[in-house]
Amino acid sequence: MTFDAAAIRAQFPGLDDAQKGKPFAYLDTAATAQKPRVVIERMTALLGREYGTVHRGLYRRAAHTTKLYEDARTTVARFLNAERGEIVFTGGCTDAMNLVAHAWGQAHLKPGDRVLVSGMEHHAGLVSWQAAGFRPEPIPILDDGSLDLAAYDRLLAAGGVKLVGCVHISNALGTINPVAELARRAHAAGALFLVDAAQSAPHLPLDVRALDCDFLAFGGHKVYGPTGIGVLYGRKAVLESIPPWRGGGEMIERVSFAGTTYAAPPARFEAGTPPIVEAIGLGVALEWMMELDRAAALAHEEALFAYAELRLATIPGLRRIGTAASRAGVLSFTLPGAHPADLANVLDMENVAIRAGHHCAQPVMERFGVPATARASLGVYSSREDIDRLHAGLMTCVRLFG
Ligand code: ALA
Repeated sequence: MTFDAAAIRAQFPGLDDAQKGKPFAYLDTAATAQKPRVVIERMTALLGREYGTVHRGLYRRAAHTTKLYEDARTTVARFLNAERGEIVFTGGCTDAMNLVAHAWGQAHLKPGDRVLVSGMEHHAGLVSWQAAGFRPEPIPILDDGSLDLAAYDRLLAAGGVKLVGCVHISNALGTINPVAELARRAHAAGALFLVDAAQSAPHLPLDVRALDCDFLAFGGHKVYGPTGIGVLYGRKAVLESIPPWRGGGEMIERVSFAGTTYAAPPARFEAGTPPIVEAIGLGVALEWMMELDRAAALAHEEALFAYAELRLATIPGLRRIGTAASRAGVLSFTLPGAHPADLANVLDMENVAIRAGHHCAQPVMERFGVPATARASLGVYSSREDIDRLHAGLMTCVRLFG
């Protein structure tokens, strides 16, 4: 199948939102992606005459919904090149990260054990550990926004590291981290490796066998699917080594007041009635992505990203935050004299949507000495016109604040 950018864009009703004659330039896909019609329509149908419970009903409707739910798990497994049993449905990427920190961490970390996370984690990769009672140590970031690999080696060599966590693509900097290499070094030091793929899943093909990671997490709403659903991939033996985190229906084998035994993964980690429609909707979104010519889609996104970088480079005074050699999807910047929120407000008047703030990555802001940045981020539906409108809006900001 060939990649037709205009035809892809036309599949997203959320983008058809002109205000006062100004088309909608949606440049906040790193926060959440718009949804293709196929996902919206499928989920609407699923909430209607296809709606039912999963795993509990003996009637045909429930059997139908159960099949769709488990088929969605198969789709996720195919998306990641994993086994079905290695796919846990969670409430989102953050929920998946918390499962690792709380359930794996509390079962496996002993006093003195160390956890390393990149200095560019969004809060899910840091605060989850802190909330679970641990103090992860940061792998430092170099001035261009890439990870300091020599410092990583030193941190590993000091011993006692049991797990390393790292974002595949930074939501604040756009840096693509060399996660397969980081995992190789973690394993050589006896540590497990967790990939936060929240930002990479929408852009890059993922293969957990090639990455050789032990955990990988991503959320549904950034891969053109719904909110309220996410995925934790866990290597089979690793998942089997983790006790339950949340108790409830479905995650048990036999329950009594004298004691309860638990189901094997992934059911062990899916307590209660799951987000049925959302899980199936995620499957639809991933099928939709996998039907695209992924190489052509990636080439389109890379070309657009390069174009956006060239355009931003012509804005007087604009400072880019995050210039690592390997980067994608996200363009963070500041403009002298203007708070990023001012930029977002002016652009909003032009019907151009960007994010401004700390991007749930306050340590990154601290590292670069800024309270916040403005951030434009791209999706498979983004266009040169979006970028040109961003550019024009920023030129207005230069006139207003410069
Ligand atoms: N991590 C999400 C973002 O970057 C919320 O916007």
